[in-house]
Amino acid sequence: MSLIATSLDDSAGLMAAKLRAGRKRPGHAIDSYFYRSPRVYETELSEIIFRSWLYAGHVSEMPAAGDYLLLEIGEDSLIIVRGDDGEIRALMNICRHRGARVCEGAAGNRKTFVCPYHGWVYNTDGSLKAAREMHMLEGFDAAGHGLKQARVVVYMGLIFINCDPDAADFNGPLQNLNDQLGAYDLARAKLAHKQTYTIAANWKLVLENYLECYHCATSHRAYSRSHTLKDVNHEAVDQAMLARTEAVTGVPGIGRHYEKTYGEAEGFACCVYTSRYGLYDGYVTGSKDGQPVAPLMGRIRAYDGGVGDFQMGPLTFMLNYPDHCVLYRFIPRDLNSTDMEVAWFVRGDAVEGVDYDREKLTWLWHHTTLEDEYIITRNSAGVNSRFFEPGPYHPEFENDLQAFMSWYLATLAKSN
Ligand code: FES
Ligand SMILES: [Fe+2]
Repeated sequence: MSLIATSLDDSAGLMAAKLRAGRKRPGHAIDSYFYRSPRVYETELSEIIFRSWLYAGHVSEMPAAGDYLLLEIGEDSLIIVRGDDGEIRALMNICRHRGARVCEGAAGNRKTFVCPYHGWVYNTDGSLKAAREMHMLEGFDAAGHGLKQARVVVYMGLIFINCDPDAADFNGPLQNLNDQLGAYDLARAKLAHKQTYTIAANWKLVLENYLECYHCATSHRAYSRSHTLKDVNHEAVDQAMLARTEAVTGVPGIGRHYEKTYGEAEGFACCVYTSRYGLYDGYVTGSKDGQPVAPLMGRIRAYDGGVGDFQMGPLTFMLNYPDHCVLYRFIPRDLNSTDMEVAWFVRGDAVEGVDYDREKLTWLWHHTTLEDEYIITRNSAGVNSRFFEPGPYHPEFENDLQAFMSWYLATLAKSN
């Protein structure tokens, strides 16, 4: 489906008026302007996306010095790489001479990054190793021409980056997840599979879809058979599971709720959330039939019929079952295109074909993601219509979505 997402009538004044109107009408979807305006998109990149903690990858993807992967955000590219000193860094993929990309492949191993244009050479720690013939420039400061870097936090094997040098600390807020996320021993987990779904829709529509389960009953039949979130009254199942979870899993604190997201976060874009909710009786994990698909993870001793729900930063989420974990991350690529990356983790020593079958492991969330892609692109088509009029949010099902929207509009308003 191709959409022409442009608006000829765009200006700082129009954006300010749309923001004022949107903030005066909380509890409602937002105007199509916010999905169509290149001015809004540019503002989002500078004020939200490049100031946010974003999941970049897992340590198991770069065990050796020189291992790297590329993280593409909007029109930008970062090299996430392990240096000879063992440190993981996020290097801007932009040569310090005249700006060419210095790394092309999506992932691999390099001793150095050599710019294809004039041959400047960078070490894996980003420092400039050689700049051909530049000794002829008197006073050339090689030390001052290393690749620029973003900030990196590695938490339980999950690598997060932030392009804002003044970004609020993320390590502190993340410690609130130590017990709940620690149960899965993600630092030693194995990335069994990852897939990027490029969705032809604005990043907010993709995130909005993740933030509510109002659509689950109508869109996700397989998911809704086992997962209670599609039901507005799922507390009874949750309470029964929470009453037994510590005894069954053997992990103290695994079911403790913690929530500081968006406007409540401890620092800008330092969202942290966890809760544990129940699966319907007879289901123990997120698979086609709700039966186990891999060995139990980390410190978890038995199936409690629960799922750990996590958020880390504004755009990264996890659904953690006793036998596998599923990570979601949303990254805008342009005004009308979003990369939804989904990563499946299993216990570190699990062997494919012996302990788990990749097809069975990924079935539920692969199919659920395809169902989401279908409804998100339908949503995008309708929202981009000139006749779209934003309707009211559901007060329970869509309250996380409302919290995001209030934060989003307030953040844009501050910068306008
Ligand atoms: S642009 Fe990289 S060496 Fe010239
Ligand atoms: Fe969905």
